[in-house]
Amino acid sequence: MLAASYHDSGVKALRAAVEVLLRGGAAVDAVELGIAAVEDDPDERTVGLSGWPDWIGEVTLDAGIMDGSTLRACGVAAVRRVKHPISLARKCLELLPHSLIVGEPAVKLAEHLGLELAEKPQPPPEAVEKKRGLERGITEGSAQLLSYYSRIFRLASRIWHDTIGVIAVDRCGNIAAGASTSGIAFKFPGRVADSAVVGAGFYSDSRYGAAICTGVGEVAMRTAAAFRAVMLLSQGYDPSEAANLVIEAAAEVAKLDGEKYSLGIVVASREIVSAAALNWENFKYVYWLGNNIEVRIADNLRHKYTHGA
Ligand code: GLY
Repeated sequence: MLAASYHDSGVKALRAAVEVLLRGGAAVDAVELGIAAVEDDPDERTVGLSGWPDWIGEVTLDAGIMDGSTLRACGVAAVRRVKHPISLARKCLELLPHSLIVGEPAVKLAEHLGLELAEKPQPPPEAVEKKRGLERGITEGSAQLLSYYSRIFRLASRIWHDTIGVIAVDRCGNIAAGASTSGIAFKFPGRVADSAVVGAGFYSDSRYGAAICTGVGEVAMRTAAAFRAVMLLSQGYDPSEAANLVIEAAAEVAKLDGEKYSLGIVVASREIVSAAALNWENFKYVYWLGNNIEVRIADNLRHKYTHGA
């Protein structure tokens, strides 16, 4: 059995995930409950309903989960008020033939399925007016506004952009992965993070392993980061080589854009966990291989560490 995550919050996620694995639970349950533990945390500003709002002041959440044994995967994106978007993604994975469900219909489904929803916020009238003005500017595509937004995004994507992700391998050797985020702070309304997109923020195939990402979601999407890592495992690369190669691909995207994007990736096979990061000092990753939960720092850019058999 194995579980892996990243960031300080990854320790909390792994405690919950390991509990599931130790009582013989399925990898996909361990991933869901591990992530849900962080979505619950009121001090968490980048995951769950206490996360940073978007540009018009609303908190919208993205999450996704994949069962590597069936290759079924589903993400939910831009959902408001859903306390556990990862559980909504899990339900969608089980009940629907789709891989991404977005916005209000997803929230309605959560309501019908009896998932916990926060009250509808009642903003003061002046806030409603301000929001309308901003929305008008955005939908009309005001060039000035969009260029101003792009500057905000560039700044926010350097500072406020974390995620929670979990990989789990259960007793039967099934491998699952998932991720959840409130997205980069002050994001464009409707912007979706990699955490909801299968192959970008998470991917799992029980034959080879799994990967989870955090950082600038656009880079994870443009490199198909999590899928790329698992594809590399399938070609015989080990997790550290796979993590490294994904980071090299991300560095290429950053170079092409002339931006200092950051990306962190954790890659696991059934026995080995490794991580690598781009432009991320002290990128922490967390893993459990049957004994204690260990925390390590992945070296920035091309460096990697490997643990396990
Ligand atoms: N990885 C989180 C985000 O792109 O918002």
